[in-house]
Amino acid sequence: MNKKLIRKVRSSFETQFKSKPLVIFSPGRINLIGEHTDYNDGFTFPAAINKGIALAICKSDINVSKVYALNKEEFYEFNSENIKPITDGGWRNYVLGVVSELQNFGKPPGNFNSVFAGNIPGGAGMSSSAALENSFVYGLNNLFELGLTKHEMILVSQKAEHNFVGVKCGVMDQYASMFGVKKSALLLDCRTIESKPYKIDFKEYKLMLINTNVKHDLSETAYNDRRETCEKVSNLLKINALRDASKDDIDALIGKISDEEYQKALYIINENNRVKQFSEAIDNGDIAALGDLLYQSHEGLSAKYKVSCEELDFLVDCAKECPNVLGARMMGGGFGGCTINLVKKNEFKVFKNDIVRKFRTKFKKECSVYNVKLSKGTKIVIN
Ligand code: GLA
Repeated sequence: MNKKLIRKVRSSFETQFKSKPLVIFSPGRINLIGEHTDYNDGFTFPAAINKGIALAICKSDINVSKVYALNKEEFYEFNSENIKPITDGGWRNYVLGVVSELQNFGKPPGNFNSVFAGNIPGGAGMSSSAALENSFVYGLNNLFELGLTKHEMILVSQKAEHNFVGVKCGVMDQYASMFGVKKSALLLDCRTIESKPYKIDFKEYKLMLINTNVKHDLSETAYNDRRETCEKVSNLLKINALRDASKDDIDALIGKISDEEYQKALYIINENNRVKQFSEAIDNGDIAALGDLLYQSHEGLSAKYKVSCEELDFLVDCAKECPNVLGARMMGGGFGGCTINLVKKNEFKVFKNDIVRKFRTKFKKECSVYNVKLSKGTKIVIN
């Protein structure tokens, strides 16, 4: 599937710009567990997937850069002096953000021509944004020999998202997309920004993603609000981040913070512990424990951290009723997007048909089901 995408992007580039491009493939990601822990300096367990963005790019000798978004058939031209975010600029802000943050980093790229396209379903919580940022930062770094390390590149991508898209995200998405390892998930420490790859084999179970195909309004504001709450609590505790807090610490704040704030901080502490338990269960081959942790994570995200929605809760409730599903939870920032489910391999189809039908009956709309492979991170595919 990616070969087709890569061919399409390359051929569109060659038709428009009459030259041979450098082609990058940058994947989206899933996250096994550890949601909203990344901006609390905590632990997460993401993996790059076999869906992503293909970018064809080449230097330009005129004084503008050109970008063609093939899926949307939209063309954009800009001059790299005095770059600012565009109101309702959509994908343009990711590209502008990367160029601007490279300039701020003291590594301004030259002008370029580019074409990109992707096969990550939009709004699914599979980080098409990080894939897009990483494809550009990686492409520009190579093309103009800027000499950035992968770690520096993901920080540029993350800043682009903060300052040009307005989401104060953590580093999980950009990290997973850049550093992904085939057939593995990465136990990521978001304080040191180092990870340990775990070969993933769920034995007779496999992952299923179910997309609600909804993205609720204001999800970006709600995301930034969650982050502010976490920072408020850690400031009161005089610690760097909630990673350093225990339940006793936040219990001591009862009366000084609202119950909502207390519950959110408690969720982060619990979720961080769950990531560690999850990695131990993988080490011990305890598949049943993985499922329980997924359900607990969802319960926390929905009832305490309040980032779920009716459609996601419904999908997780249906999963709970099915004996062939070990565990399920919402995945990513929330307020829509996908659930991640651990489903018995030989019952995969039955569960898929069942859930699609139930969702349709309940909401009078469709959900989508995906099967993903854990894959390598951002890379050059044609040089
Ligand atoms: C979004 C953000 C990530 C992370 C997740 C929630 O995907 O971009 O940094 O916070 O939400 O885990």
